[in-house]
Amino acid sequence: MSTVPVITIDGPSGSGKGTVSRRVAAALGFHLLDSGALYRLVGLAGRRAGLPAGDETAHATLAGRLAIEFGVGPGGGESVRLGGEDVTDAIRTELAGNLASQVASLAAVRAALIDRQRRFATPPGLVADGRDMGTTIFPGAVLKVFLTASAEERARRRHKQLKDKGLDVSLADLSREIAERDQRDRTRAVSPLVAADDAIELDSTGMTPEEVIARVLKLARGRL
Ligand code: C5P
Repeated sequence: MSTVPVITIDGPSGSGKGTVSRRVAAALGFHLLDSGALYRLVGLAGRRAGLPAGDETAHATLAGRLAIEFGVGPGGGESVRLGGEDVTDAIRTELAGNLASQVASLAAVRAALIDRQRRFATPPGLVADGRDMGTTIFPGAVLKVFLTASAEERARRRHKQLKDKGLDVSLADLSREIAERDQRDRTRAVSPLVAADDAIELDSTGMTPEEVIARVLKLARGRL
């Protein structure tokens, strides 16, 4: 087990994991693993290659070979490249999210991504954002947070996020898609979305991002 401190932040879509993980990583000077982006990239690459959604072997092979680069974009935001192509915006669409959730239920795809995810744990430390960071990928993490929020609040947050990016999605469609995705993530056979036994559950409904970040940082500082 690695001695690099890892903080895992797991939870359902729209729980605020992304923002909280990024800001906690920045405050501690730690690296960040956005594991959802890996599944989004596999989903997108599979669709572009014309793979049938359930073709487990082909998707796993693809997952093992993807040339992914995470970096910082021109405005200081995130930048994600796939085989040299800028896919920063393409992986954030609801289509990519749904493709991700489909390929994420394939056991061989998850297995193909395990080592790639563990390699993010380098000094001085890592904040890992996902669904199974605390249960499967980093069971020895120093702090495990399971972040939730009510389904209504999560749909509203996601709606605002997409609107801010200029994407027009109806709140009703989004609520339905989030509910479907949650159901698939919670009930799949491999690495379902579930809090680790030693995770601290934090319900962020009604809390501002700043409040959640302060809570997680306080917990983290108590354990580092
Ligand atoms: O977090 P994000 O919305 O980017 O994740 C997209 C999808 O990828 C999730 O709905 C989930 O199905 C899958 N995922 C996963 N395990 C992770 C991260 C994401 O199964 N560690």
